[in-house]
Amino acid sequence: MAQEDIFKKVVSHCKEYGFVFPSSEIYDGLGAVYDYGQNGVELKNNIKQYWWQSMVLLHDNIVGIDSCIFMHPTIWKASGHVDAFNDPLIDNRDSKKRYRADVLIEDQIAKYDEKIEKEVAKARKRFGDAFDEAQYRSTSPKVKEDQEKRDALHERYSKAMNAMDLDELRQIILDEEIVCPISGTRNWTEVRQFNLMFKTEVGSTADGASTIYLRPETAQGIFVNYLNVQKTGRMKIPFGIAQIGKAFRNEIVARQFIFRMREFEQMEMQFFIKPGTELDWFRKWKETRMAWHQNLGFGAENYRFHDHEKLAHYANAAADIEFKMPFGFKEVEGIHSRTNFDLSQHAKFSGKKIEYFDPEINESYTPYVIETSIGVDRMFLSVMCHSYCEETLEDGQSRVVLRLPAALAPVKLAVFPLTKKDGLPEKAHAIIDDLKFHFNCKYEEKDQIGKRYRRQDAIGTPFCVTVDNQTLEDDTVTLRYRDTMEQKRIPISEIRNIVEDQVTITSLLKRLK
Ligand code: GAP
Repeated sequence: MAQEDIFKKVVSHCKEYGFVFPSSEIYDGLGAVYDYGQNGVELKNNIKQYWWQSMVLLHDNIVGIDSCIFMHPTIWKASGHVDAFNDPLIDNRDSKKRYRADVLIEDQIAKYDEKIEKEVAKARKRFGDAFDEAQYRSTSPKVKEDQEKRDALHERYSKAMNAMDLDELRQIILDEEIVCPISGTRNWTEVRQFNLMFKTEVGSTADGASTIYLRPETAQGIFVNYLNVQKTGRMKIPFGIAQIGKAFRNEIVARQFIFRMREFEQMEMQFFIKPGTELDWFRKWKETRMAWHQNLGFGAENYRFHDHEKLAHYANAAADIEFKMPFGFKEVEGIHSRTNFDLSQHAKFSGKKIEYFDPEINESYTPYVIETSIGVDRMFLSVMCHSYCEETLEDGQSRVVLRLPAALAPVKLAVFPLTKKDGLPEKAHAIIDDLKFHFNCKYEEKDQIGKRYRRQDAIGTPFCVTVDNQTLEDDTVTLRYRDTMEQKRIPISEIRNIVEDQVTITSLLKRLK
């Protein structure tokens, strides 16, 4: 199945099975804002638990906080967001549609890439086993020409972005003859800067209300609490502060479902270290975070690092962890070596001394920071895309199964009475009453068993148990495994051990190296 078709199916599956709904749907929705449904919230909470526990439980030098969305407006001046958290925008005069200039150009680069890959794929088919891809790429005149055009465009674009040269961005759009996808014309306005922060006001206007921002990242809540946590927690460097929370960005080009949202959630950890040790810690955190992702068992080939060539002015190293989504490798997490930029800026703007006295060297310094920053919603999307599976069974029937890692599945165990009589529902309820303290169980009695299995497969439930008349005689049930569909008879007393062994976040954490 084509990758875009898979993506469309994932999106509609999310809606149909209570994972993700468009926000305010009965009012026709609100762009780039989504709600999580009854199954989605469980999966999301499990992802957050997996991250939180891997940080705070597994590291005795990492603690968590929960800071507010509203913060003093000067924080965003100090962090650089007021002046520099901008996207370059351009309008098409005919369609009246607004675009991100950088996205239009990146799409054009992607078109060259696609053209090149198509040529290579055609040649691969033509030459079969004898195909030497590297040689073909370096000798085919068509591929070479497109590659040169692509590289030249990429270089010109990178330069313009680095310098935020808005005229040059517009000129690239004109030179590349990029047209508006709606009107099909090249009637473009100038390129303008657009700040991504949402503004609101605190206090009534009569009192002199002041403008504040909805935080565009959770990280600043950690930086401004650095002294509080370090002092009250008697933390010694190196140490980390972790936080999960909402962030808001007025994204202009919002697309690809929950990949780019206006309200989303981040899981960020700032690791405070001694200056000079940052590149070692950067490498270590890159490895640690990649191991966390790969521990889910989605296959190492579906992840890659993208090391940044263009660095923000305060960073001295940065890399993304990218996951292979149906629409290509995309950033899910960023790992950034942020030097002492943020703490120094907050010291400057607040007038407070923000330092660490290091007893080992008898000196004070402003700590350096390694940041790991992952979007919960992007992580959720990667899990859904990888787990969605359509299978044809031996008997010719088909099923949709979400092969979620058991520890992330919304429901761990579904319990079915074979029929709605003879005391079977009561027995099934008794099993759930016993197990519900340990993991999430669901009772289902509607439809025949086969249909009930399919419904649970579709939401990724790893185990189902059927209670029948034999259960009333010998306290055994049929246990059915989601992935293999294997069924076996087991005593009720064994259910907990079998299920618990695989569905807890602890089981996932124990596999982390
Ligand atoms: N504190 C650093 C920071 O915020 P970022 O690269 O802008 O860095 C980190 O964001 C992560 O947050 C991204 O890797 C992505 O997973 C997530 N993210 C950023 N913008 C997002 C959006 N509009 N919608 C969903 N997730 C987003």
